[in-house]
Order: sequence, then C-alpha cells, then structure tokens
Amino acid sequence: MTKDKVLIFDTTLRDGEQSPGATMTHAEKLEIAELLDEMGVDIIEAGFPIASEGDFKAVSEIAERAKNAVICGLSRANFKDIDRCWEAVKHARQPRIHTFIGTSPLHRAIPNLTQDEMADRIHDCVTHARNLCDNVQWSSMDATRTEEDFLCRTVEIAIKAGATTINIPDTVGYTAPVESADLIRMLIEKVPGADEVIFATHCHNDLGMATANSLAAVDGGARQIECTINGLGERAGNTALEEVVMALKVRGDIMPFETGIDTRKIMNISRRVATVSGFAVQFNKAIVGKNAFAHESGIHQDGMLKNRETFEVMKPEDVGLSGTSLPLGKHSGRAALRAKLSELGFDLADNQLNDVFVRFKDLADRKKEVFDDDLMALVYQNDSGDDRLKLKSLRVVCGTQGPQEAEMVMTIDGADVKTSATGDGPVDATFNAVKALFAHKARLQLYQVSAVTEGTDAQATVSVRMEEEGRIATGQSADTDTVVASAKAYINALNRLLVRREQSEPGYDVKGISYKDA
Ligand code: KIV
Ligand code: ZN
Repeated sequence: MTKDKVLIFDTTLRDGEQSPGATMTHAEKLEIAELLDEMGVDIIEAGFPIASEGDFKAVSEIAERAKNAVICGLSRANFKDIDRCWEAVKHARQPRIHTFIGTSPLHRAIPNLTQDEMADRIHDCVTHARNLCDNVQWSSMDATRTEEDFLCRTVEIAIKAGATTINIPDTVGYTAPVESADLIRMLIEKVPGADEVIFATHCHNDLGMATANSLAAVDGGARQIECTINGLGERAGNTALEEVVMALKVRGDIMPFETGIDTRKIMNISRRVATVSGFAVQFNKAIVGKNAFAHESGIHQDGMLKNRETFEVMKPEDVGLSGTSLPLGKHSGRAALRAKLSELGFDLADNQLNDVFVRFKDLADRKKEVFDDDLMALVYQNDSGDDRLKLKSLRVVCGTQGPQEAEMVMTIDGADVKTSATGDGPVDATFNAVKALFAHKARLQLYQVSAVTEGTDAQATVSVRMEEEGRIATGQSADTDTVVASAKAYINALNRLLVRREQSEPGYDVKGISYKDA
C-alpha cells in the first residue's frame, strides 16, 4: 500500500529567523537553504521580501539557487507586498507566493476591517497573487481563534480566488491535538472546493503542543506541515521539523504517511542552525539534543548492550549520528580527515580541507582524541580572511583574589595593537581588553558556553550575541581554552556588526513589521 505524502514546509529562514536575536547573515541563509534543499524539504519559506533589502536579496538568491524545493516568500495581504514577493521568488524553478492576514476578532481589529471588508481583501489579494504565480498559499492567521463560520468563509474565498494551499495557523500556540484535527476535518468537509487544495498546519509551541497539534492536523486531513529546524521561532518557537519527521517515520504503523526527508541529514543541519542562530539546542531536546541518544544509567546501559531496542525507538544513525565514532589523533593524516568528514556529510573542496587540516593538527596537538563533534566545530570555525578585527594573542592571569588581568594583542585593519585590562573574572577581563582596543557601543545580549565533547580537554563552543542600534549579530568560536573561545566569539560578533554597519542595511531589523499596514 502506498503511503500518503505529507509535504514538509520549512520556515526556519522566515518564522525562525524572525525570532529576536536569531538573525542570520546573507551567507548563512544561503547555506541553510542549500542544506534544506539537499535534505529533501518540499517547500522552503526563504523570507519576507518586503521586510528589508536583506530579506529580499536572500529570497531572490535562494530562489535562483534552489535545485529541488519550491521557494516561497511571505507577503501580507496587500498588492505592494505581493508584488515584492513575486519579484524575489520569480526566478525559482518552482516559485510560491504566500500571503496572509489575521482573521480572528483580535487580529481583525488591528487593521480595523469588518468581516466583509476582510473577505474582499482576501479575494483581491489571492486573485492578484494568482495572476502572478500559479502556486499560491493562503493563510488565515490566528485561524484557531477565528469564528468557525468566518474561517470557512475566508478559506472558501481563497480557494475560489485560486489559492492552491490553505494554511490554518495556530499563531499563538493555543490549540490542542483533538481540536487541531477536528478543525481541519471540519474545513475539508464543509468548504466547497476543499478537496482541490492542500491543507497545511502551522503550529507554535506556546503550550508545548506544536508537534502533537501538527500530527493531529495530519490525522484530520492536512498534508503539509510547516516547521523549523530545532523548533526555532518566536516565543516558544514553531513545530520542530525533526520531531514531526521522525514521529512519522518511527510510528508509520499508526500514522501511515511519508515525507521526502533524508533523515540522516538532520543532525548536521540542526547543529548548523544552532550555531548560526546562536540558539543552542537544549540537552534533552527530542531527536537532536545532546542527550537524546545518551544512556547514562547502569540499568539503561545494561539493557542497551543486550538489545538496543530496550531503550531506543530509533537508531542514532537514522538522524545522522554515526554509531561508531572512532576518534582521530595527531598522527591521522589528510586522507583520514577527508574520509571522516565525508562520513559526517562534509565534502570539502581541497582548499577548505587544507584550512580544516591546519586547525585539526593544531587541535590534535592540544587534545588527545579529536571526536566527530570536535571536527564539526572545526569545520564551522568562521573567522573569515576579510575580518577587520583578529585576535593575535591572549594571556590571562587568574587567581583566587581578583581582579583577573588579560593581556591582549589584536590586529585591527592590519595593524597590531596591545593592551591589558582587568575584570571580574577572566572572561570579563578579556572582553574589557577588546573594548579598550576597539571602542564600540554594542551591548552584549547573550554569552553562552557549552562543551563540544566530554573531558577536561574538551573544546568549548562559545556563542555571543551583540546589539548595536537595533542591529543584532551573533559570533561563535570553539577552542580547548574557554577564554580564548570567548574572545574569538566576541570579536567574531563585532566583525559581523561592522559588516552590518558598513552595509548599513536600513530597515534590517524591521522584522517586527506591523500587520497594520496589511
Ligand atoms: O504564525 C503565523 O500565523 C504565521 C503566519 C504568517 C503564517 O507565521
Ligand atoms: Zn508562525
């Protein structure tokens, strides 16, 4: 029996990136889009083209590059947004315009439209979008808090005007599984033309039910799930792609649906999204958390050794964790490194491999065994050759009696500058040294350290988020020395802020763009 297909619509680059602080650079957005495309995502929502020049460029370039996925842009329900969206997606092999308006009483009050006025607006906008593109998605935002009759009316109008996908968002994460299934079932039964379109579910996780609500919606007849990697997104986030995909795969017995996702690519993209967004994955997060496949307790380990299925419902390999992780050491050569990286899903060009090899040798000199996670951290070390600020050397003097002292040499625009600074702890002293060498007004919003692997010689990855006049940038670095990793991450964030400042992208942070203008 062939299984029904559930389309996976990923909105990491739109709803996910909209989360305060999760801003990604242009290059990062292209990279994530490529990974999504390679893993088999059916539709990539690449951004909100009217929101900023940066979003427009990202959506356009992703549209031009995508090989398989449908590329979708978001637009509010007005002609200007829709035209801008079409400009951005039109070069995709398979473009889609996604347009929406808030239909619940609370949302209707924002543009102050009556039901009739809103109905006309939906008709006009979907018709306009459909005249530009034959793949149009309509969303009745806050559908789960919209009166049933009016929701049916909006959906019927959108279908008649030519929408090909109807999205029923649970914008504020309010619904519950039974209700989620019933709502889609009701729409399919009641709305004329419903069997001609695909119904989509778009859930937020405010009550922790996004995954359950999405799967229940599929039970009710939805055939598109909207989600993000790691559940990234505003507030408590969106439905996590890895959770719904793995749930459908593992519980095919009771949910006979398939997706086109190559699940072995999940871990890699999860790590990458965590790094570029600066939103670390919680250790006990389903599927992609560090502990998701760790079996620490004696009873569990004993059971696992006898039969893996005792405590595991899926294999780590299925999500891209290599089962047998043989570490590399300082005697491992370039060929071994290439083979290991390829096993982890990285096929690097020769020059990239050379760079990683240099970093690998340096790390292997300091650390006995270099594990898969260490290698990934090395691949993703992102100090670009063009950076204006670089850390040259750092020496920190620590003692039980503060203050601690940091002596630092930085290269700024090619010239070495040196200082020493004190602080309340080694990291504070180090950051003060950076500030003394390169004065800036940026404020530190987040400082986060996590160990890449176990052991006291483990590398630490540090994420830093900085804010300057509404622009936000994150920086990351990894090193066996936490203070060095901290300094590099801080400098990395400053370099990114400098790029933003130089590009001076007006409106870069207008993601909170008002729905009033819809
Ligand atoms: O949560 C939501 O309702 C949205 C819409 C724009 C689809 O993200
Ligand atoms: Zn949303």
